Amino acid sequence: MIEKELIQEKLKEVLYPGFTKSIVAFGFVKAVETNEDGVYIEVDISSSAPEIENELREDVTKKIKLLGAKKVDVVIKKPTIPKQSSSQGKNIAPGVKNFVMVSSGKGGVGKSTTTVNLAIALAMQGKKVGLLDADIYGPNIPRMMGVAGEQPEIIANKVKPLLSHGVEVMSMGSLMEEGQSLVWRGAMIMKAIQQLLRDVMWGDLDVMIIDMPPGTGDAQLTLAQSVPVTTGVCVTTPQKVALDDTERSLDMFKKLHIPIAGIVENMSGFISPDTGKEYDIFGKGTTKPLAEKFETVVLGEIPIEPSIREGGDSGKPVVFHNPDSQTAKKYQEAATKLWETIEQINKDGGVDNEAIQPTTPPGVSACSS
Ligand SMILES: Nc1ncnc2c1ncn2[C@@H]1O[C@H](COP(=O)(O)OP(=O)(O)OP(=O)(O)O)[C@@H](O)[C@H]1O
Ligand SMILES: [Mg+2]
Repeated sequence: MIEKELIQEKLKEVLYPGFTKSIVAFGFVKAVETNEDGVYIEVDISSSAPEIENELREDVTKKIKLLGAKKVDVVIKKPTIPKQSSSQGKNIAPGVKNFVMVSSGKGGVGKSTTTVNLAIALAMQGKKVGLLDADIYGPNIPRMMGVAGEQPEIIANKVKPLLSHGVEVMSMGSLMEEGQSLVWRGAMIMKAIQQLLRDVMWGDLDVMIIDMPPGTGDAQLTLAQSVPVTTGVCVTTPQKVALDDTERSLDMFKKLHIPIAGIVENMSGFISPDTGKEYDIFGKGTTKPLAEKFETVVLGEIPIEPSIREGGDSGKPVVFHNPDSQTAKKYQEAATKLWETIEQINKDGGVDNEAIQPTTPPGVSACSS
């Protein structure tokens, strides 16, 4: 008979499809029983998509058989919430018409910078825009939007979003003391993101752009469970090591049934301000084949430019404060393409990521670690 602890340990190697986190870390393993005949495992997942179920069943069976189990019985429990007639059924921020998840596989590639400039560009194009900072551990949005240190007003237990550059903004960074850092478990991340959606007095928004932490984890899954994500944008830098991680991020969108609006290739070449000569520091144009593989487009190639970094540090985003620059125009074009995609998705009947439904909060199961 195989020891239960051994099985639980092995299950930590089973990643949730599309994510880099295991089913154990997500808290999806509900029961493990073992006897002379074999092993019984119960997994409670958040997706009703059959391909997720099949992939999980195969992976669990394969890994547990490696321990020498003769028979592996995997019971996968799926969400029992009835499918709503529209994807609004799971929208905990019902005033918001569209949600855009900005993700990247790797950290530091320019997600927050891209999110800020895309949000402002859309507001400059006349859309009612919100910007949600879902990077709970490392909230950079207040500084980049120029609202660091501003205290949001609280009215009847609800938080009023801050207003900056024509965009409604909310971040955990605005709700805690400056410089405080957070060390939270998965379940807390989930609660924080849900509160930022539900307990903030978001206006009637055409679109909410959401800045994610890097990778594929609790924040991404929570968001997909809490609101119907209209589309995803992936940010990458052109070098190979970043592209490998980007592929994982794109794969996550696919697994979550989130249509991909496109990829932003950031830090794509450097144009010397004194000579005008172009240098390919991280490479350039390497994103296109990846976009094609995922049947999507490159939304823009944004060069390395000191004014972008300065704009981020000083809370004066380039798209607003230097609107005639080439870079600002590139952000505007990317925003236009993004909006066209959103309109197309809505014309085609909206999103179909209801397959993702809330289940037990990640990290609260007895088997989690
Ligand atoms: N195109 C660019 N040109 C120059 N500097 C840039 C560019 N894009 C981003 N930066 C700078 O690079 C740094 C990292 O960018 P940013 O914070 O947007 O990345 P991120 O992907 O959100 O990081 P994290 O994963 O930590 O959330 C910032 O200082 C930002 O100002
Ligand atoms: Mg960031």
